[in-house]
Amino acid sequence: MGYQSIDVAPLAGAMGAEIHGVDLASELTNQQFDEIHQAHLDYLTIVFRDQKLTPPQQADFARRFGTLEIYPFLKGIEGAPEVVELIKTEVDTENFGGVWHSDTTYQEKPVMGSMLYAHEVPDAGGDTLYANMYLAYESLSDGLKELLDGLKAHNNSAQLYRGGRAKKMEKLAGMKDQYNTESDVLEALHPVVRTHPETGRKALYVNRSHTERFENMTAEESTPLLHYLCDHSIRPEFTCRVKWEPGTLAFWDNRCTQHFAINDYPGKRRRMHRVIIEGDTPH
Ligand code: OGA
Ligand code: MN
Repeated sequence: MGYQSIDVAPLAGAMGAEIHGVDLASELTNQQFDEIHQAHLDYLTIVFRDQKLTPPQQADFARRFGTLEIYPFLKGIEGAPEVVELIKTEVDTENFGGVWHSDTTYQEKPVMGSMLYAHEVPDAGGDTLYANMYLAYESLSDGLKELLDGLKAHNNSAQLYRGGRAKKMEKLAGMKDQYNTESDVLEALHPVVRTHPETGRKALYVNRSHTERFENMTAEESTPLLHYLCDHSIRPEFTCRVKWEPGTLAFWDNRCTQHFAINDYPGKRRRMHRVIIEGDTPH
């Protein structure tokens, strides 16, 4: 489709586009909104530069795409409960989101999309990688597609957190006070291949961070194939890379992508605001 009200500049061959010519703090016209929505479906991750957004303005923009959801593991910031702050400080060694994943696949209804807005970023480092799960699925052999098409997998919020999420969060100096200690381990069973509710395309839907095992199989039996699929999913030719500047906002389609926060800026600070939008039950 041709875009009339926005400029769309692809970031890589597989996915991702920068969108120029729109001020997200202003009231968008229906045409602008429709084209942004279309670009989100076409490019899976869309990136806006030089935006000036207060937390309520970021939440208002996100609300055009659906109902905002409260992230179960972090408290929202003061005055904007749907906005969480992701901070890595000068003294932190671990980061948040540093394993390939799609967001909240341990929920019955994982989020449709996430919007991350950069406040403070290092001069170099702290980029985010994204991968296209349509391409991950489409590039599998017919035999493996057939095997996976009927399978389901258990996704678990504690999967990578031996000793619990609280243990991991304690290690994040900048974020540990935001940790919501009341939240419990969450678990959901989802198809390994899901059909995107808007585009009708099939996408691979397992990830290293949250997917534990296939339904009716042990973890031991599942792990070799899960590892293969997770490695396959992030082949370089399926990815794009977003370099952040203060004022950059990225909005990814969580139904057909994975992402990875690169931890390559020791001693530097990075501070982002995130909102998430409700999704539906994967089919
Ligand atoms: C997230 C996440 C990546 C980043 O916000 O869901 O994984 O680069 N963040 O901070
Ligand atoms: Mn994430």
